[in-house]
Amino acid sequence: MSDSFLVRGGAALSGSIAIGGAKNAALKLMVASLLSPGRHEIENVPNILDVEIMGRVLEHVGAAVTRTGTTLTIDVPEIPVPEAPLDLVRQMRASILVLGALLTRTGEARVALPGGDDFGSRPINFHVAGLEAMGATFDLKHGVLHGSAPDGLVGTEVFLEFPSVGATENILLAAVLAEGVTTIGNAAREPELVDLAEYLIAMGAKIDGVGTSTIEIHGVDALTPTTHRTVSDRLEAGTYLVAGAMTAGTVTVTDCRPEHLRMELRKLESTGCTIAVTESTITVTGPERPLPVDIATLPYPGFHTDMHPQLVTLLSIAGGTSLVTENIYAGRFRYLGELNRMGAEIHADGQHVVIRGVDGLSGCEVDACDIRAGAALTIAAMRAEGETLIRDAEHVDRGYDGWVPKLQSLGADIQRV
Ligand code: EPU
Repeated sequence: MSDSFLVRGGAALSGSIAIGGAKNAALKLMVASLLSPGRHEIENVPNILDVEIMGRVLEHVGAAVTRTGTTLTIDVPEIPVPEAPLDLVRQMRASILVLGALLTRTGEARVALPGGDDFGSRPINFHVAGLEAMGATFDLKHGVLHGSAPDGLVGTEVFLEFPSVGATENILLAAVLAEGVTTIGNAAREPELVDLAEYLIAMGAKIDGVGTSTIEIHGVDALTPTTHRTVSDRLEAGTYLVAGAMTAGTVTVTDCRPEHLRMELRKLESTGCTIAVTESTITVTGPERPLPVDIATLPYPGFHTDMHPQLVTLLSIAGGTSLVTENIYAGRFRYLGELNRMGAEIHADGQHVVIRGVDGLSGCEVDACDIRAGAALTIAAMRAEGETLIRDAEHVDRGYDGWVPKLQSLGADIQRV
């Protein structure tokens, strides 16, 4: 039996939460450590399930991973085992990022292919095409992708069809130790990718254009281990701010980077929230009833797809109709049925979500189908009348460190059962 969250709605949240390191940066920093033998220290790493799974992937490859507080120490062997097994890749799709790192370090990589998930199929064709352009060859046998580059990878120009975060990262990881110059055109610009590049630069990599659409990488012969602090998690910050807004409360997040949430804060402001920002804190006070707004998810610096379910939840009680357009994933809508069971009036048509604001939600039993959906349903429950049981809590555990105690500290009536 998996855990659930039991929430009694009604309390307006109030208080302050210190934000931890970003899941989507920490996972990539861990993979990047494989590029250099020796001892690496990665600080500010959240204690979440996905980090644990990535730790197991690194251990399978031959590294030793230990945690002291929020610091991970990773001892990387001279020659890693070039393989990521199915049971781990199946649990966490981000395991695919070892592909570029292992190919460039060992000349080969065997990685089980991840399947689809609740967002629809998520192919890795851009990752593979980029690495092929650098001289790797691939063969798919029995569900395992065998990559080979016995003579090493060679820099080239890779132009991505879409600014995929994972593909940019995989090619970047491969390119730092490749021969010659690699340029990635139409590259992703996400802050977590910038964090990865900064870690690589601190290890001795030569990378220009980080944070722009064209990244240029000059391959080097070797990298040296270093210590790096993970960038703050903009999604954790954004999620607690929406929770505050949903309950017409006031929530402050500290230790964060407000400039990474520019579009999300602008949209929250349009719903009638009052927002105050300092260099590293954001305070949001929610309105009694949100105003409707239209949102389109886009690659950074556009509105983040991983904030879509939380915002749809807030808009479910708006005084009017909102339209949210999902441009990153073909299907990110399974949670809508769960929200509708709580009394929301939402329907999806293609990539568009039409949200007719209702006067109130009422608690019932719902299923968390992914990390952000689970967070969004918890947020809905805090505004709902009565009790809500959110099943499959482990989805939320994949991405949020201390979800229940942090919400309790803000005054939420929530417990894990
Ligand atoms: N895509 C392809 N082919 C590819 C790669 C991507 O068609 O080879 C498509 C995907 O199917 C998707 C779109 O391109 O429709 C964007 O995918 P992207 O590669 O940018 O996403 P990702 O690297 O797989 C990361 C985050 C996601 C986040 C997305 C978008 C990690 C571990 N995951 O995924 O985070 O939604 O970027 O910003 O960094 C989450 O944290 O809950 C989460 C799902």
